[in-house]
Amino acid sequence: MRIRACRDGEEAALLAIFRAAVRTTAADDYSAEQIDAWSPARWTQAQRERWIERVCALRPFVAELDGAVAGYADLQDDGLIDHFYVSPDFARRGVGAALMSHLLALARARGLSAVHAHVSRTAQPFFARFGFEIVAQRKPVVRGVEVPNAEMRAVLAAPEAV
Ligand SMILES: CC(C)(COP(=O)(O)OP(=O)(O)OC[C@H]1O[C@@H](n2cnc3c(N)ncnc32)[C@H](O)[C@@H]1OP(=O)(O)O)[C@@H](O)C(=O)NCCC(=O)NCCS
Repeated sequence: MRIRACRDGEEAALLAIFRAAVRTTAADDYSAEQIDAWSPARWTQAQRERWIERVCALRPFVAELDGAVAGYADLQDDGLIDHFYVSPDFARRGVGAALMSHLLALARARGLSAVHAHVSRTAQPFFARFGFEIVAQRKPVVRGVEVPNAEMRAVLAAPEAV
């Protein structure tokens, strides 16, 4: 497994992972209406272009496994992890763990004292495994539908004094 910056031309692969992760992996934890709001069954060209523009601006990292992009995630300057998605084809094979370890190491290297994310019900046990705790329940409205998640935060240990 290799974690690296997303390259030009990989945007469609990231969108496919996002769509599959929401519509397959997260479908057990949300209603069909909520899943449709989060990631519609059909996307217009304009929706695709807007999504790609927004996600590229996050400068995501990808996990490459067996020559394929298996997942992606980002870390913003203020410690926000905005997107975190693993393809259901590669679920429970440590792809998410590798991405998270990369983000946490990067956050420490950047001198951040904490990282945070708006975490789906589906991903909460995964984030908890990495030391994140729920600080607030959220009820964001997406395309007119409430899609609950939780604000989770992990405090990072200060680097040891030399
Ligand atoms: C959450 C997600 C990123 C995890 O990715 P993954 O590559 O399958 O996770 P890993 O294989 O690295 O899991 C590492 C550990 O996290 C925990 N974990 C992962 N998924 C879990 C789940 N559904 N329930 C409980 N624990 C889980 C386990 O401890 C796991 O270790 P184990 O497999 O040895 O038991 C993935 O399920 C996903 O994309 N979900 C849908 C999209 C989503 O909700 N994204 C978050 C938006 S905020």
